[in-house]
Amino acid sequence: MTKKVLVAGVAGFIGSNLAERLLKEGYEVVGIDNLAYGIPENIPQGVDFHKVDIRSNDIYSLFDGVDVVFHLAAKNDLSACQKDPVETMDINVHGTTNVFEAAKRAGVRKIVFASSSAIEEGEARLNGFYAIGKVTDESIAKGYREAFGLHFVALRYFNVYGPRQDYRRVNPPVVSAFIIKLLKGEQPVLYEGYDENKRDFVYVDDVNDFHLLCLKDDQVNDRMFRLGMGRSYSMKEVYDAVRAVVGSNVEPIIQSRKPEDTAAVTLADIRDAVAVGWTPKTSFEEGLKAQLEFLKGEFAKGNVK
Ligand SMILES: NC(=O)c1ccc[n+]([C@@H]2O[C@H](COP(=O)([O-])OP(=O)(O)OC[C@H]3O[C@@H](n4cnc5c(N)ncnc54)[C@H](O)[C@@H]3O)[C@@H](O)[C@H]2O)c1
Repeated sequence: MTKKVLVAGVAGFIGSNLAERLLKEGYEVVGIDNLAYGIPENIPQGVDFHKVDIRSNDIYSLFDGVDVVFHLAAKNDLSACQKDPVETMDINVHGTTNVFEAAKRAGVRKIVFASSSAIEEGEARLNGFYAIGKVTDESIAKGYREAFGLHFVALRYFNVYGPRQDYRRVNPPVVSAFIIKLLKGEQPVLYEGYDENKRDFVYVDDVNDFHLLCLKDDQVNDRMFRLGMGRSYSMKEVYDAVRAVVGSNVEPIIQSRKPEDTAAVTLADIRDAVAVGWTPKTSFEEGLKAQLEFLKGEFAKGNVK
């Protein structure tokens, strides 16, 4: 029998890639999103899509007959979260609780949800409202497990990149920002400290490999996993890798930045994820090429301003 899964945040970057993969694997996919940040054209054909807010009671009936829920909906632009703590908590904490409640009421087998590496990026990040919300989400998951027996998997994604990454936001993620500037023939900005500022990146298909593992394997239940490549790249290395796949020799503009705006070095401890049979398979070069092709397509459609 075809299993039904629900993806919250299906019009976003990771959610849309996940939905596409689930459909290919033969799952029936219900998708919800309020389209606050995601866009309808991201939603793969075949998804039973409902435009609805995760904070609304209207989501409850959509969970009927669902085997596993993937909860990826969130307000996640860090500076926007800092500017509006009330809305951040409303969506990321109240909304998340409502998704857990809907899953509980419908007798869902397991809920896999997006936490974040922001929890591990130093004191300043940890005290930011986005990370506070994610820490709280991990506690909510434990609360629902304790009180109602609802199984969860908490996933601390590190820097996820790949096609459909949300390049439209005011501060686009670094890979998209570099590729877009270079395709426009403009100079990208590198901030001082670019050799020391290292981040762990992970390609979206590799993240989806773990999502699929969560569907099939119960040894992941009620645990937290970190998903990264298990190696960090400095901003200079990212820049050089992007420049190589784009085939550009443009030099960056070097600017200074306030120390508090720079995240701590990230390096995912992926040992637990590897121990359950997962490996990040995509090389940085392969992943960047796929993201480049996607962005070239966006230029061709006139979507990049
Ligand atoms: N992309 C990354 O590198 C990364 C890293 C760590 C954690 N995460 C987490 O992973 C999840 C997915 O991230 P993404 O990069 O795909 O983000 P995204 O912004 O592309 O997707 C999030 C989706 O959630 C939807 N959404 C927001 N508020 C909603 C609401 N109230 N009701 C219904 N839908 C709502 C948005 O419209 C959007 O389509 C998020 O929870 C994010 O915090 C992402």
